[in-house]
Amino acid sequence: MNKHIGILTAGGDSPGLNAAIRAIGKSAMDTGRMEVVGFKDGFRGLMENRVMRLNRSMLSSILTLGGTILGTSRDKPHKMPVGGELMDMTEVICDNYYKHRLDALVCIGGGGTQKNAFRLVEKGLNILTLPKTIDNDVYGTDVTFGFDTAMEIATEAIDRLHSTAHSHHRIIVIEVMGHNTGWLALGAGIASGADVVLIPEIPYNTAIVADAIRYRQQRGNNFSIVVIAEGALSIDDKKVLDKLTNRKVQAKQSGDSKSRKKAQDAYLSFSKKRLTHTLQLSQQLEEMTGLESRLTILGHLQRGGTPSATDRVLATRLGSSCVKYIENGDFGNMIALRGDGTVLVPLQDVIGKRKVVPLDHSWLESARNVGTCLGD
Ligand code: F6P
Repeated sequence: MNKHIGILTAGGDSPGLNAAIRAIGKSAMDTGRMEVVGFKDGFRGLMENRVMRLNRSMLSSILTLGGTILGTSRDKPHKMPVGGELMDMTEVICDNYYKHRLDALVCIGGGGTQKNAFRLVEKGLNILTLPKTIDNDVYGTDVTFGFDTAMEIATEAIDRLHSTAHSHHRIIVIEVMGHNTGWLALGAGIASGADVVLIPEIPYNTAIVADAIRYRQQRGNNFSIVVIAEGALSIDDKKVLDKLTNRKVQAKQSGDSKSRKKAQDAYLSFSKKRLTHTLQLSQQLEEMTGLESRLTILGHLQRGGTPSATDRVLATRLGSSCVKYIENGDFGNMIALRGDGTVLVPLQDVIGKRKVVPLDHSWLESARNVGTCLGD
């Protein structure tokens, strides 16, 4: 009897997803004992029974393609928008898993997907996961696929902004993705020789950033490149955020619905305000240094297009190792990169944690060694 393997991709797309789908599919089909189906648009496709049987011709020539041939969504099994309401569709998903006679389901995604996949493990499904995200923030793996490509794209963009900043004697503030971690900003900032790199792990002091730019001016450099992670916070904003977060937690514990709503509203209004924080920084730096300043938000550009060679190799390594783990029945795990090999990390050890940039990380030391201002 052939084994039936399902694959889905969930969360934000990431270069290397197709390389991973190809690797799982090809290595499974090569055993001659496995059939592979893909579910469309993440957990939603599994809930809605939107499925495609994968064959060799579908898998050929997708290695270099960006995005995911399966489509993706951020829908969660236990909070799925259905008919205008958020519904717990976990049972439907489990029923469909059995309807398709799946022996294993491979969920490819970032931190949120690992969490959602674990919920299905708790329901008794045979799940393996692969870690992908341009943010590189999944706990338990050395690196996630998508990160290398995004770092390349951001670096190239910053290189290009360098020459225009230089010609116009301007500051250019460049907002880079990364959710609440600074891997992407730090990596691209080092690679492009940014003068200032601001990351969420190190709340920044705007006056120190302005000083660094003025110091460059004194030495005849009338332009500066400031790379800021989308989740970076000034010291003051970090204090406010911590306060609002504590208030939210306390209000939730108190069980008082009025104070819960108040705390939630205050948190949301701060989060909304923060959407423009990089623009504010650009304006503040203009006022403080007398140099003209422009803001560029790289946004989803960083997630699109063909994966780098490094991401293709990583996705192929992780994806092709799946078959061995499926045959061994090693379910409930994430397949992670550790050193030169792949290892299994129990999903319960992955979820609820985020891999942030450690303050003693060598990338930070290297950045400081070459005179990059980190805002502290
Ligand atoms: O997790 C990947 C990521 O690109 C983050 O860097 C970013 O914060 C988020 O997704 C953007 O999400 P969306 O595509 O849903 O706007």
